Amino acid sequence: LDNGLAKTPPMGWLAWERFRCNTDCKNDPDNCISENLFRTMADILVNEGYARAGYEYINVDDCWLEKERSVYGELVPDRTRFPRGMKSLSDYVHARGLKFGIYEDYGNYTCAGYPGVLGYLQRDAETFASWDVDYVKLDGCYAHPSEMDRGYPETGRPMIYSCSWPVYQIYAGMQPNFSLITSHCNMWRNFDDIQDSWASVESIIDYYGNNQDLIVPNAGPGHWNDPDMLIIGNFGLSYEQCKTQMAIWAILAAPLLMSVDLRTIKPEYKAILQNRKIIAVDQDPLGIQGRRIYKHKGIEIWSRPITPLFQNYFSYAIAFVNRRTDGTPSDVAVTLKELGLTSPTGYRVEDLYEDVDYGVLSPQTKIKVKVNPSGVVILRADVQPDFPRRVPY
Ligand code: DGJ
Repeated sequence: LDNGLAKTPPMGWLAWERFRCNTDCKNDPDNCISENLFRTMADILVNEGYARAGYEYINVDDCWLEKERSVYGELVPDRTRFPRGMKSLSDYVHARGLKFGIYEDYGNYTCAGYPGVLGYLQRDAETFASWDVDYVKLDGCYAHPSEMDRGYPETGRPMIYSCSWPVYQIYAGMQPNFSLITSHCNMWRNFDDIQDSWASVESIIDYYGNNQDLIVPNAGPGHWNDPDMLIIGNFGLSYEQCKTQMAIWAILAAPLLMSVDLRTIKPEYKAILQNRKIIAVDQDPLGIQGRRIYKHKGIEIWSRPITPLFQNYFSYAIAFVNRRTDGTPSDVAVTLKELGLTSPTGYRVEDLYEDVDYGVLSPQTKIKVKVNPSGVVILRADVQPDFPRRVPY
């Protein structure tokens, strides 16, 4: 969608995967979907370095509404959980220099049974604009997949438009019209909801690898594939697996939407989420989504072209993933040329998690990495400009 937004994949915090539809503020006041939860997460984004690392959206998901519209047909936020209303929450988020996202559904109801936008699309878009919303996720429960290829309602306020309808169309056996989707949406889901398990993350990685010829060409500045939230720091992934999710999401040019309790996240997981070098890969200005270029006996290599360019040569982020379960790290040895890195000027190669600098390597050089089970090694190879070497005096 060419609305001037999402020139790089959006980054922020989204409630759903971790906090779901917990509406029980009476017994679980700290974890229920309420204005307090979003205010707290906004504070932490700013106070604990996330905003400085690039995370800027605070996004509400399902279960924020009253079950009925007002007598005038307007959406009403839950009166006990959002007593000050959505404009006030939006103001709170904006006052911290962040942006505010909200959730609705294209059908009669949201997935959790709250009022959907069907019949109120323009009206609800105007309501969101009046609350200074910056980002709308539009889900696809209780809607007809064949009716989803509609435009984007005009409100005059540019908002990131996060679409779910491709995945609902795929579920219904339809082939999504990706040229329509890329021109109407800033990002869209292609596959299942992420769950708190390595099996779920693996299934998403496999879906994106197995369908890359269809998926990869649709990504670019303003329009991104969305493999769903980052679950780093939750219960289901090991430390290695969290590193793998972050690395592969960066290769996929994915929106980075953390769904984790930022109040209790352990420092090593926070460090993964705030890894500047990997975020820079995700946010590379060329916006070219990466691909799986090798898959054999549980070892995968993923590659993404990034800046800087020299003549016709790209730089690359390269991720080596070990999907084996045999308990010991696997060695991978490969020349840069075999990875498609052929510039005669060479590449400066560094590891993005470990403090390892390989120096400038020629395409013929063999690099060797050790990849932990269900873990990753992610490298960055910057093509070298052919400047004459400076002679020391
Ligand atoms: C389905 C979406 O894919 C999820 O991300 C979440 O928004 C739920 N619906 C909410 O009901």
